[in-house]
Amino acid sequence: MDFKLELGKAIGAVVGMEAEEVSSWMEVPPESAMGDYAFPCFRLAKTMRKAPPMIAAELAQQVEKPDFVERVEVKGAYLNFFLDKATFAKAVLEEIAEKKESYGKSTMGNGKTIVIDYSSPNIAKPFHVGHLRSTVIGNALYHLYETLGYHCEGVNHLGDWGTQFGKLIVAYQLWGNAKDVEEKGISELMRLYVKFHDVAEEKPELEDDARAWFVKMQDGDEEALRLWKWFYDISIKEFERVYAMLHVSFDHYTGESFYNDKMAAVVDELKEKNLLTESNGAMIVDLSEENMPPCLIIRTDGGTLYATRDITAALYRKKTFDFDKCIYLTALDQNLHFAQWFKVIEKMGYDWSKDLVHVPFGLVSLDSGKLSTRKGHVVLMEDLLHQAIAETKKIIEEKNPSLPNKEEVAKQVGIGAVIFNDLYNSRIKDVVFSWERMLNFEGETGPYVQYTNARACSILRKAQMVAPEQVDFSKLSDPATADVCKALYSFPEKIKEAAAKYEPSVLSRNLMDIAQKFNKFYHDNPILNSEEDVKQARLLVVRAVQIVLTCGLAILGMEAPEQM
Ligand code: ARG
Repeated sequence: MDFKLELGKAIGAVVGMEAEEVSSWMEVPPESAMGDYAFPCFRLAKTMRKAPPMIAAELAQQVEKPDFVERVEVKGAYLNFFLDKATFAKAVLEEIAEKKESYGKSTMGNGKTIVIDYSSPNIAKPFHVGHLRSTVIGNALYHLYETLGYHCEGVNHLGDWGTQFGKLIVAYQLWGNAKDVEEKGISELMRLYVKFHDVAEEKPELEDDARAWFVKMQDGDEEALRLWKWFYDISIKEFERVYAMLHVSFDHYTGESFYNDKMAAVVDELKEKNLLTESNGAMIVDLSEENMPPCLIIRTDGGTLYATRDITAALYRKKTFDFDKCIYLTALDQNLHFAQWFKVIEKMGYDWSKDLVHVPFGLVSLDSGKLSTRKGHVVLMEDLLHQAIAETKKIIEEKNPSLPNKEEVAKQVGIGAVIFNDLYNSRIKDVVFSWERMLNFEGETGPYVQYTNARACSILRKAQMVAPEQVDFSKLSDPATADVCKALYSFPEKIKEAAAKYEPSVLSRNLMDIAQKFNKFYHDNPILNSEEDVKQARLLVVRAVQIVLTCGLAILGMEAPEQM
């Protein structure tokens, strides 16, 4: 039931306006004591030629009160509506009981495709915590859009092409051997890469060798490609271990190398459209009119660039998926890169350039400051996840040593804590890792939400529930219950808002709200020891919370253990 719209109808009938428009003005007061909905009368002042408080007073008299409204109060220029708690609880809880896991789902995206470019780590470099954010936010957006009925294509645009592979080949031939690479994997590749940079500082001619090897790769040289493919396979194997821990998967592993044979046509098209100009031997698209530095398309040595591959990939994706939107998740230090090549697509005459969306996010930091790969001070994602699991295990040993399945639960909670920590603040903020804060079962954390869900599961295990039709909703008129129901009622709206803003934190905050309100409800209201009809009514609240938290956590990419 759309209460806002119903109120819009009632007011619209009096003022002679469309219900949708009127309801779009409706606000939700910050506290329930001020009403459940508030209608501001300012905008009517012009047409009605009266002071807003006077309009509010008149409307209070004239508006036909819908059944679900308990009372209406005038406060200044506002008309405050108080919903009848039992009627409200009935509407929300019946809907959840009926729809179950489908509560919050929508068909609004049916027939539309969203491409999500996320995670996209660089081959032969460690999967460090900087890529965690792209992976976790991208995965949550994927689920959010799917919940709204969109068809999603998840793409891992691996950084698997570029001069760095020339460097790696040079380093491998100078200082590496097959056995170490096979045994140590990325960390050995990383050692070689770091060594290359150290030595190249004294011997800059190594850079030329590296460029030559990359040109060989581009030209299809067998030896160059054999080595590259080998580094690729080794890297993917390690990445997939991390993805498995996070339960993240991709529809396409099409990295930068995938576009190698597709770039020439795009360069030709840029030429044909008179967009390419020469600049010191390189080919660029001039963006001075847009107040941006030029977008580099071809280097002086003939090599292509990151932007060349992104432009080619966008054209390929449009042709292949006919997307309604293609969204890219990277740290905000790539803002300019995306702004530049989005502009190039626009200049090529493609009006769908407006459907390309860069969704930037802040940095991840530990106490040691910004994380980098070049100098080797990196925190590997795999290590971080293992540590999260180990820390969680300690807490479980302490709090609930007899818990069955401890290993599994420690994984679910430890990894859930890392994910939730990443998704709880607006994405543009930096994420700081602190085990103490992330794993606090009483704080605003993933474990807290998971624990609340497990608590709900435990109550439900001990109870025998009747069918929702048999529940006496008049038993649910207390404020704590109303608050839980309100938070549950917001869930479908919050999913839409989170997707529209590319902001999973909108959903994680709603889940936190549900969890906190539920714990208050649970504290105020005895459940299993109450009289049968009260107990049955409250159990329906518990069941609804359990359903919504489980679904919501799944959207964020987290598991919901039934016991912890
Ligand atoms: N590999 C890049 C990096 O690690 C991210 C790629 C993002 N996707 C894209 N289409 N540019 O910085």
